[in-house]
Formats: sequence, C-alpha cells, structure tokens
Amino acid sequence: MANTTNPEQLRSARSIATGAQAALEAIDIRKSLPLGRERIDILKGISLRIEHGAFVAIVGPSGSGKSTLLGIIAGLDNPTSGQVFVDGVDITRMSEGKLAAVRNQKIGMVFQAFNLIPTLTAQENVEVPLYVGKHPGKPSDRAKELLTLVGLGHRLGNKPNQMSGGEQQRVAVARALATNPAIVIMDEPTGNLDKKNGDNVLQMIRDLRQATGTTFVIATHDPNVASSADRSIRIVDGLVANGE
Ligand SMILES: Nc1ncnc2c1ncn2[C@@H]1O[C@H](COP(=O)(O)OP(=O)(O)OP(=O)(O)O)[C@@H](O)[C@H]1O
Ligand SMILES: [Mg+2]
Repeated sequence: MANTTNPEQLRSARSIATGAQAALEAIDIRKSLPLGRERIDILKGISLRIEHGAFVAIVGPSGSGKSTLLGIIAGLDNPTSGQVFVDGVDITRMSEGKLAAVRNQKIGMVFQAFNLIPTLTAQENVEVPLYVGKHPGKPSDRAKELLTLVGLGHRLGNKPNQMSGGEQQRVAVARALATNPAIVIMDEPTGNLDKKNGDNVLQMIRDLRQATGTTFVIATHDPNVASSADRSIRIVDGLVANGE
C-alpha cells in the first residue's frame, strides 16, 4: 500500500508493541471445495489483521473469494486450513455451541442477500438475535431504537415483502447492530440499492462507527464505500493482491 499512515496503522503498530489483540486476525486461510471429481481452491492462503475500530473494505472481482472469506471470518463456515482469531480467541478450534455464543456476542453480519425472516415484521427480525444469549434491556425497545436509527421508525410492523430493497437492507443492518457487536461484517451492503439508499446506508455506517467505535469489515464493489474505508484489502483469485 501507499506509505500513508492512517489511524488504524498507528493503532496496529501500538498494539503489536504492547501485545494488544487485533479485533480480527486471519492466518493463512485456505478453502477448497469438491467440484465433481476435482477440488477447486477458492481461498489460497489469506492472512490479514484488522484493528479495533477500523473500517476495512474487501474489494476484488466477482468470484475472487470475498463472500467465502467473510463467511469464514464470521465463523459461519470452516476454512480447509488456517486460523481466525476474534479478539485473540481462535474461533476455528471452537465447539459449535461456544462459536454460536461468540457470533451472537461479538459479530454482526449483513449478508449479500438480506436474509430477513419473511414471516416476521421488521421489529421482530431485529429482536431475534436479542433473544439468543443474554443482552441488556428489552428486545422490543432495542429493536425500535435501532430501526429508528436507520430511519425506519415508521416501518416497525412491516414484513420484508412490504418493504423496498433499501428498507430491507437497513433492517438487516439494524439486526446486525442490535447486540452491539464489536465487529460488523457486511457483504455488499449497498449492492442492491439505488444511489440514494446506498448513500444513506454508507452514511449510517460512518455515523455508527464515529458514535460506537465498532469495527467494520465490508465486501463491496461500490467505489463510494471503498473510498470511505481506512484501507482496502484486494482479493484476486483467492489471494490478497495488495501486499497486506
Ligand atoms: N459451494 C460452492 N461450491 C463450489 N464453488 C463455490 C461455492 N461457493 C463459491 N464457489 C466459488 O468460489 C469462488 C468465490 O466465490 P465468492 O462467492 O466468495 O466470490 P465473491 O468474491 O464474493 O464474488 P461476488 O463479488 O460476485 O460476490 C467463485 O468462483 C464461486 O463460483
Ligand atoms: Mg460475494
């Protein structure tokens, strides 16, 4: 990368010096899958370190492995080999029960397709993660607060098919933030949105980061999102292409 020194690099240098944990660290992640009689290598050895409070964009061509990588760092998918540390804890060696608790407490995820539950209202969708594990306050109050924050205070009772794509995306963002996770991982949060809704979601990410210090890791094809990040990690053909 260029020799710019941004706040994340400073924090990184400081935390390496003091031994503090990164928010997220991936070491030599590989993923291969069977395809007919062969195996295809989707990720070929990805290492990265993301400091607390950073906003990092994951960019690269379609099919390069971004979504696969996000699934692995969010603990939703296993790598074929390699390790992922969340706050210094290796999540690739965890039992499913423990991993579910870490995911619920520390990681919020927004998928490329929004993955809202179609039979539940906006408010109920945001409440779901709050009923899993222990979280302070009343789920319904927290869900209303978050939906108001994303500009949907007037859509609490709508089901996904009664909302626009941009509104559904904002519900997904509110749900990811409901448990106040340290890390929010988003796959193309503006991918299905028009310019105005995309700008709204991006502005919301910026504001939330400012207000809460949450770490954001966002896969994106959107140059506006990438240019708002502290840095971009470029994935090409299953490898980091910018000397990370
Ligand atoms: N379950 C699977 N079985 C076989 N191949 C898969 C599977 N899932 C993904 N792939 C392949 O792995 C590669 C990486 O896919 P991935 O979804 O991670 O790409 P991406 O960078 O997120 O792309 P996009 O920008 O289009 O979202 C692609 O070539 C894809 O076809
Ligand atoms: Mg993808």
